[in-house]
Amino acid sequence: MEVTRVPVSLGERSYDVVIGERLLGEMREFAEAEKPTSSFIVTDTNVGPLHADVVQNAVVANEVFTVPAGENSKGIEQLARLYDEVFAARQVDRHSLVFALGGGMVGDLAGYLAATLLRGIRYVQVPTSLLAMVDSSVGGKTAINHAAGKNLIGAFHQPAAVFCDLHFLKTLPEREYVSAIAEIIKTAALSGDELMSLLEASADKLAAREVDSLQRVIEACVRFKAQVVAEDEVEVTGRRATLNLGHTLAHVIETAFPERYLHGEAVAIGTAAALRLSVERAKLDPEVATRVVALFGRFGLSTVVPENLEAARALEIMEADKKRTGHVLRFVVLSELGEAGALPCRLDDALAATLLGRSHA
Ligand code: GLY
Repeated sequence: MEVTRVPVSLGERSYDVVIGERLLGEMREFAEAEKPTSSFIVTDTNVGPLHADVVQNAVVANEVFTVPAGENSKGIEQLARLYDEVFAARQVDRHSLVFALGGGMVGDLAGYLAATLLRGIRYVQVPTSLLAMVDSSVGGKTAINHAAGKNLIGAFHQPAAVFCDLHFLKTLPEREYVSAIAEIIKTAALSGDELMSLLEASADKLAAREVDSLQRVIEACVRFKAQVVAEDEVEVTGRRATLNLGHTLAHVIETAFPERYLHGEAVAIGTAAALRLSVERAKLDPEVATRVVALFGRFGLSTVVPENLEAARALEIMEADKKRTGHVLRFVVLSELGEAGALPCRLDDALAATLLGRSHA
């Protein structure tokens, strides 16, 4: 299949998301055209040993900086170490280029590094996980975590290009791959019937990582995200915030059961909960909710809230949510497939019962 390019149209911050298998030639061409004064790759201990050498050769990067794999690296400690290493190498100036080679953690960390070095230098996202390809590498959100919460220190800083090379997905662990499908299904619920039908028709091929289907699906997700980002780049109108469908309960689950669920697995459960809420309070046709839940099921993704998550604990975690106003939290809901909006909901027992899928006395 041919390489496809999806433009993200943001005026002078516009860039292409390039999607295909084996994109080293495209990366080389891009680096040659950029003519940076120096360039360096940021990667992690999982991805670096597999892919850093070939990417370094292709883009002729001066250095490879490697952080330990895992979410713990997305913090001030590793960021400080990266600043030290970059300045020690004495090669950075306003025309240097950063390549973020890895999953969402590396993309967010290296993106934030680029956003803050010398008040902002250009960077390229080279996502190696399916989740990063369909979501975090596109749209310019960069951040590190703080003890007070995830992504609390960050900046909007658009990449100069994104290269989604399907070749990298061959080495992605199965659980991680399937978990990313949850974000794809969430995107389909937000975008409408076309992507839903494509996923339903190609579910088996997608589960088998068949390259043509993957490319088509990644392209559709990126096109949708590019459109949302172009409409609401820095999340002011509420349009971009609809991408968080299912994420409130997902956050509850990830907080209540640290390390037990991958993000996508929690998003599958959270999206099903948001659709229950949509049926109850936003007039969503129940058949739409059933259709989306069935699609999660085809990939073996559970949509059932863990039994030992008590309503009181869920409400307590939502009460601590920084986006809450008083006892009210805004939930992303669908009124129909592809039609999303925000619904303010009081944090009470009735809400918890709907979200958890349990009856309320
Ligand atoms: N992942 C949600 C966003 O980029 O806005």
